[in-house]
Amino acid sequence: MNLHSRGQEGQVVWFTGLSGAGKTTLVSALEGKLLEEGRKVQILDGDLVRENLSKGLGFSKEDRDTNVRRIGFVAGLLAQHGVTVLVSAISPYRDTRDEVLAGYPRKLEVFVDASLETVTRRDVKGLYLKAIAGEIAHFTGVSDPYEAPLSPDLHLRTDRSSVSECVSKLLGALGVREAVGA
Ligand code: ADX
Repeated sequence: MNLHSRGQEGQVVWFTGLSGAGKTTLVSALEGKLLEEGRKVQILDGDLVRENLSKGLGFSKEDRDTNVRRIGFVAGLLAQHGVTVLVSAISPYRDTRDEVLAGYPRKLEVFVDASLETVTRRDVKGLYLKAIAGEIAHFTGVSDPYEAPLSPDLHLRTDRSSVSECVSKLLGALGVREAVGA
């Protein structure tokens, strides 16, 4: 993939973590702040991509890798046009994440981390109980692997930090200064 910069290269901010760890929440909160700053922003969310670009794909390693590479490809195209791209996908396999991220001149890997106990307790989509009961096969964290990043640019513990604390860290990492009292 040729992702050479043409002028104002945008940044790809790649959020990885278990289902229910808080990726979607953080990405939408961050999007709001970046739009206030006048940035061009695009969210690429795994759930939504799977309804469209990746429709029909399942959760085998092969299908997840295909999904992640497709998201990665689109993210790269958008970034070339100066868009800050916020990717939100479990993207459980380290090698595939590393491969995709290696293609971007400007990137930030964000590990959205919450313990399995926490995400099971939250069970936002009601999927963990089903997975534990064996009703969903290959469920990440329960019956399928999740390979955490070894050296993410940002490691956010959503079971210990509030959404606004996490967003502040993200803005700091993106070089956005927060308005006083925001
Ligand atoms: S990825 O592994 O290919 O990156 P992606 O982020 O697109 O996953 O989609 C994950 C979402 O699919 C979860 O948040 C959940 O809603 C749904 N889902 C359905 N089945 C599974 C499964 N077996 N493992 C993980 N997520 C699943």
